[in-house]
Order: sequence, then C-alpha cells, then structure tokens
Amino acid sequence: MRKHIVAGNWKMNCTFTEADELVEGIMEQLEQKDLDSNTILVVCPPYPYLEMTTDYANDSYFAVGAQNVAAEERGAFTGEVSAEMLESMEIDYCIVGHSERRAYYGETDRVVATKVDRLLAHGLKPIVCVGEVLEEREAGRQLEVVKTQVEQSLFHLSAEQMQEVVIAYEPVWAIGTGKTATPEQAQEIHAHIRSLLAGKYGQAVADEISILYGGSCKPSNAKELFACPDIDGGLIGGASLKADDFIAIALSF
Ligand code: 13P
Repeated sequence: MRKHIVAGNWKMNCTFTEADELVEGIMEQLEQKDLDSNTILVVCPPYPYLEMTTDYANDSYFAVGAQNVAAEERGAFTGEVSAEMLESMEIDYCIVGHSERRAYYGETDRVVATKVDRLLAHGLKPIVCVGEVLEEREAGRQLEVVKTQVEQSLFHLSAEQMQEVVIAYEPVWAIGTGKTATPEQAQEIHAHIRSLLAGKYGQAVADEISILYGGSCKPSNAKELFACPDIDGGLIGGASLKADDFIAIALSF
C-alpha cells in the first residue's frame, strides 16, 4: 500500500518564536492523537528553522522537509542552499517546482529536473509540484499542461529513482485563494498522472508513488479529497500554520 503523506509548506511565514511554538503545537497534537501508521507527516519550515524542527522531530514522529534547493552542487552561489547541506542536516524531503518558484523565480521544468537529480543524489525525497494556471484550465488544457510538467521534470529518472519521488498536484488557481479543486477535478488529474507514470514505468511502479493534492486544503475538505482513489495526501499551505488544523487534515484518511 502506498504511503499517505501530509506535508505542511509554511512558505515565508513565522518568526523564530512563532515557528518554535508551531512545532511544539504539532508535537502536542501528536501526543494526543494517533496518526494512522501508514501516514507520514512532513513539516517544511523556512531554512533558518530546519535545525530547530529536526531537533524536535527526533523526539517525535514527523519528517522534515525544505521548501527549495539549489540546482548547483556547491560553490560560489551566494544565498543558495545545496542538497549536500540538507543531507548533512538529515533533512528527509524537499519541495521542488512549487508554482510560486515557477512564477516568481523563473523555475522551469529543466531546472526542476536538475534539482530533482541533486536531491536524489543526496538521498532526499523530492516533492515535485505540478499544476495548471487558471487560463490553462479555462482553455481545457490542464491534462496537457500537467503531462508536460511531469514528463519534462521527471521522465529522465530510472524506475528505481522514480520510486523515491513524491508528486504534488497543485492547481495554481486553488493556491491561497480559498477555492479548492472539487474531488472530481483533483481525482481526474491524479489518475492522469498515475497513468502517465504507468505508461513510462509500469503499473507496479505507478501504484507505489504517492500523489498529493495541494490548494486550499483544510480540515473541512480534506476527507472528501483524500477519499479519492488516486489522492494519497496533501501539500498544505495556510492550514499548516495552525497545529490543530494541520493534524486534523492528517487525520482525514
Ligand atoms: P494553500 O493551502 O495555502 O492554498 O497553499 C497550498 C500550497 O501552495 C502548498 O504548497
């Protein structure tokens, strides 16, 4: 059975004190509530809080992820953070190709593919984001757009490497807007992604890959989204900044 994953993408939020309180809140919730043993909880704080979060995680049952990684291996790239650094801090996951990085920092599928390679070479699991913008959905191009993103950012990988990857479908029009994809809309894309994976790597590999939904996912809609056969969890933005909402989502399977 493939893993259920609920990952919190804090984005550029929280002071150090707020971050510390949020992680403590998550720990408290986890002490009170039992997550399904098939559910992996991942907390993705901003870089400066990774160490503090991993210190807490060692006493608890959640994994830690970064929100981005450099495309280069090492050297004179001021302000960048490498996969090697993340590995040396025992970070488990890293988000790549988030639509905000694509839109504001020019991250292309080619850059995403390179970042995926760096992460895999250093033993981190990439959480690779794909998803169409509103105009593309209105033009009925969502399947084609997602197909190109999946193929261009991932299909250079071997089947073995692909099994380390998590995919997140995040329709851009649903991110931070309060507008969630309906379970039918999300399931259609998730099934599409899985069939692309099956076509390239075979059904057995495709069936092992967790595909998360992201975009205004919250406690009130997580259950119906997670009930869809190809939705294996969520990548949560706003609702991951409240410990009780984040854990309520993780309990929605
Ligand atoms: P929201 O949950 O705030 O819509 O953000 C989703 C997201 O972008 C997670 O990566």
